[in-house]
Amino acid sequence: MSISTISRQVHHPVKDVSTLPKPRPTGLSILKRDHPRATPPQASTAFEGPPRTVSADLGVPTLHRTVVDYANFDHAASTPALESVKIAVDAALRTYSSVHRGNGYASRITSEWYEDARAQVHGFVGAREEDLVVFTRNSTDSLNLLARCLPRQTTTFVFESEHHAALLPWNPARTVRIPVPGSEQDALILLEDALRDAAGTAPGPLLVVVTGASNVTGELWPVESIVSTASRYGARVVLDAAQLAPHRKIDIEALGVDYVAFSGHKLYAPFGAGVLAGRADWLNEAAPYLLGGGATASVTSGSTRWNDGAARHEAGSPNVIGAIAIAAACASFETHRDAIEAHEAALAEQLSTGLAAVDGVTTYSIFGPGHERVGVSTFTIKGLDSSLVSAVLSAEYGIGVRDGKFCAHLLVDALLLDPHDDDSPGAAVRASVGLANNAEHVSRLLGAIATLASDGPAFRYRHTPTGWVPVEDPRDLTLPRPW
Ligand code: ALA
Repeated sequence: MSISTISRQVHHPVKDVSTLPKPRPTGLSILKRDHPRATPPQASTAFEGPPRTVSADLGVPTLHRTVVDYANFDHAASTPALESVKIAVDAALRTYSSVHRGNGYASRITSEWYEDARAQVHGFVGAREEDLVVFTRNSTDSLNLLARCLPRQTTTFVFESEHHAALLPWNPARTVRIPVPGSEQDALILLEDALRDAAGTAPGPLLVVVTGASNVTGELWPVESIVSTASRYGARVVLDAAQLAPHRKIDIEALGVDYVAFSGHKLYAPFGAGVLAGRADWLNEAAPYLLGGGATASVTSGSTRWNDGAARHEAGSPNVIGAIAIAAACASFETHRDAIEAHEAALAEQLSTGLAAVDGVTTYSIFGPGHERVGVSTFTIKGLDSSLVSAVLSAEYGIGVRDGKFCAHLLVDALLLDPHDDDSPGAAVRASVGLANNAEHVSRLLGAIATLASDGPAFRYRHTPTGWVPVEDPRDLTLPRPW
């Protein structure tokens, strides 16, 4: 399978370069601008179809001594940058300077763009006017921030199906763990039971944690029904949108959730920033997440007064490039929403129907077959160790997947372990589709899985402390460092 034999089935017409940002003057010429405001970078909207990622032409070596188009099925872990994000970041780097700490031209531009990025995200998540948007490092950081801001004696309700970022940050002494449900109805009944039990005796506020889409099965959670159950007990709801934001529109106000968390690195903006958006009161009343400059309103030798608002929890120089990257990704998603959803729906359907047709493959589901999901499928192949499957897909087919328990150990154990079968698998393989995929990638993945299920690997592998590796490996897996 050489790269030249792969026919890309998703066509991206060539960009109209007339709409791309004009090259900016270099050096001190920026001082000659006749207006004080730099124009925020704009993503190109000149082509039909979903936006492209910067990794679109990445070739990878295989054991067959070929170089093939990289089929990246690991979007649920981390996504490549969008081209529009790279354009925005490159433009922002030119004026990069301190945020809210300087009066120089570059500092003013950078500060303005940082706040513009906040406003872009505010719109992207459909936040209420009075909601805060705090820039964090990622979803884990956002949920840990919220956990630190909960009023004392808050009781948190969390399903054991959550990934660790949403499962673990809460005070264990005041957390009610709800078992992995077997259906949507079951989820709502289990939640209602837990809330009812706690409502009479809980000494403080209640918070329900719910994921928008499972990082293991891709299934959408019934967020609106969860909100309506929670609201009967006066509980707030935080939506972990790490997996939802890259695939579906989020609307805090329409959903009625109180907080939303998501990561830039899963939204094609891998520059180290994430978001917590939501109600201001708990965030303003809590101690700052980090203590330091930026969070302070005034400091005397005897006392410190802290800022209210997002700044309270953004001490230190903020990751303005990460925030601008997220804003650029949000802008692209808003412009290309229909094309993105259509592209992913076609690939997700091709993947799930294809997997269901392979003998020896088991796919996993929380809510049962046919439940609406984003393009994430988790599966095992009978008789094959999942980490071997993942190594073979990479080495023989140029396909990247994730294997293991996906930082969701309780859910994977609940889905895979069969107490009546000593041979039930302990780990699985996950394929997650996104904007770096096309139909040929899915066909290649399905063909590889079918071959593995019927014939096993084409080469010999050995198990090492770091995983399975080919016994003989002619590939050069190094690249010159990019710095
Ligand atoms: N939650 C991330 C994943 O699913 C880390 O891969």
